[in-house]
Amino acid sequence: LSKEQADEVRHAWDKVKSNEVEILYEIFKAHPDIQNKFPQFAGKNLDSIKNNSDFGTHATRIVSFITEIMSLGGKPDLLPAIKTRVNEMGQNHRNRGVTKEQFNEFRSTLTDYVKHHSSLDGDTEHAWNQAIDNVFFIIFSNL
Ligand code: HEM
Repeated sequence: LSKEQADEVRHAWDKVKSNEVEILYEIFKAHPDIQNKFPQFAGKNLDSIKNNSDFGTHATRIVSFITEIMSLGGKPDLLPAIKTRVNEMGQNHRNRGVTKEQFNEFRSTLTDYVKHHSSLDGDTEHAWNQAIDNVFFIIFSNL
């Protein structure tokens, strides 16, 4: 990604990143198989757990991770740090039995959410997809 593209992606993300709970809710709603990988959420009614502190805590962890990766993005000297963080995350998730299909499900709902809430134009959507391709390439090498 060029620096301009990295900035576009970050701007789109800035518009939605405070909606942590809503984002995780949409992901679980569309993909109950993802919800069911969490021992603390498996089999529970989504609308009833949505307002629990556990749910908020986890939503914040995911969103903060994405924000962290984005803040490192577009800075070539920080590339090794991004790779280390993402490899670590991939290994943690492999150990939990998370699949590529589930990551792709996550991606699809997250991208729809950003599209609807931050009005991605064609260029920005292209850059957004490229950014996720890059991160998923690293994650998938660990699964
Ligand atoms: C932790 C599942 C995708 C970021 C976890 C935990 C589970 C899990 C079970 C442990 C929660 C706990 O012990 O409280 C999944 C599943 C996914 C997925 C089934 C399916 C796609 C993602 C994605 C991200 C992410 C795409 C970030 C972009 C994190 C973070 C943690 C975590 C930051 C806490 C740190 C850690 O323990 O690794 N995930 N996750 N997860 N997940 Fe995921």
